[in-house]
Amino acid sequence: MESDTAGHIPVLSEQVRRLLEVKPGETVVDATVGLAGHAMLFFEALAREGTLVGLDADPANLAIGRRRLIRAAAVEDGSSQSPIRIELVHANFAELETVLSRLGIRSVDVIFADLGMSSTQLDDAERGFSFQRDGPLDMRMDPRLEVTAADLVNRLGERELGDLIYHNSQERASRRIARRICEVRRQKRITTTSALVEVIANALRVNPVSRRSRIHPATKTFQALRMAVNEETRCLGALLDAAPRLLAPDGRIGIVAFHSVEDKAVKLNFRARSSDGIYRIVTKRPVTAEEAERQANPRSRSAKLRVATRLKEQAG
Ligand SMILES: C[S@@+](CC[C@H](N)C(=O)[O-])C[C@H]1O[C@@H](n2cnc3c(N)ncnc32)[C@H](O)[C@@H]1O
Repeated sequence: MESDTAGHIPVLSEQVRRLLEVKPGETVVDATVGLAGHAMLFFEALAREGTLVGLDADPANLAIGRRRLIRAAAVEDGSSQSPIRIELVHANFAELETVLSRLGIRSVDVIFADLGMSSTQLDDAERGFSFQRDGPLDMRMDPRLEVTAADLVNRLGERELGDLIYHNSQERASRRIARRICEVRRQKRITTTSALVEVIANALRVNPVSRRSRIHPATKTFQALRMAVNEETRCLGALLDAAPRLLAPDGRIGIVAFHSVEDKAVKLNFRARSSDGIYRIVTKRPVTAEEAERQANPRSRSAKLRVATRLKEQAG
């Protein structure tokens, strides 16, 4: 079904293509295959030779990506057999090393990740990611995870909740929001996105509908909870740690981040590996979207791409 991905525009696609320079015959990992927007670019650049490994924590998105890639491969080859080895795995990218070892792949030429959520996740009220759609307060990308956003909101102590919101999103009113959550949940569990939005709006004394600010008052709290539910900081750290062990000499790593906590983690990691003589930083400053892309795709406005190259091991 083409409608799966209709309207899906991968962010910074030209910049990703130019800076990651995928060549025929290479082995490429798309750690967040999603709707396969970027994976399709890699597939095309491999040009009938090489290996494409795609991971996604969300099996529903992986299924969409799989349909798209398999269709492209079949069209390309005129059969159902792809000349490119395509491996799509339901896994968190924190497990990339284990996934590759199971596939018998010892090193790769490209590791790419386009962090965060896809439009399919945000648009599906039942997933609980959106403060603009009423649904269960879930936010798990991987349904195998045991803890939902509702569990965190209803179980954590006030201080812990305030810290979580502040550390993951720098929400300045984190303490006030945590206090209000604890007051409200004493009367009744907070189990829906709209109930949480109301609590936050109340804590901030704003009306979420007729607000003045361009940014919805629940934006940061929702981001913080999503990051905690999916352990996003830990998983990104694990991917960044594993990458130097997995990349072949001259291999490239590219990460697209959407908020300052993620972007800072990538920046500091690349800097540290560059001081160790392991990486050469390709993007001295993060690459951002041009005006035309910003207009066409609002999600691109906060996207920041950083790329580094794996240097050869120093002799001795
Ligand atoms: C922004 S979307 C990727 C879109 C994709 N680049 C495209 O063009 O279609 C992010 C995807 O990464 C997945 N994801 C987020 N964190 C992940 C993680 N730690 N491990 C694996 N997949 C993850 C999400 O489920 C989502 O499908």
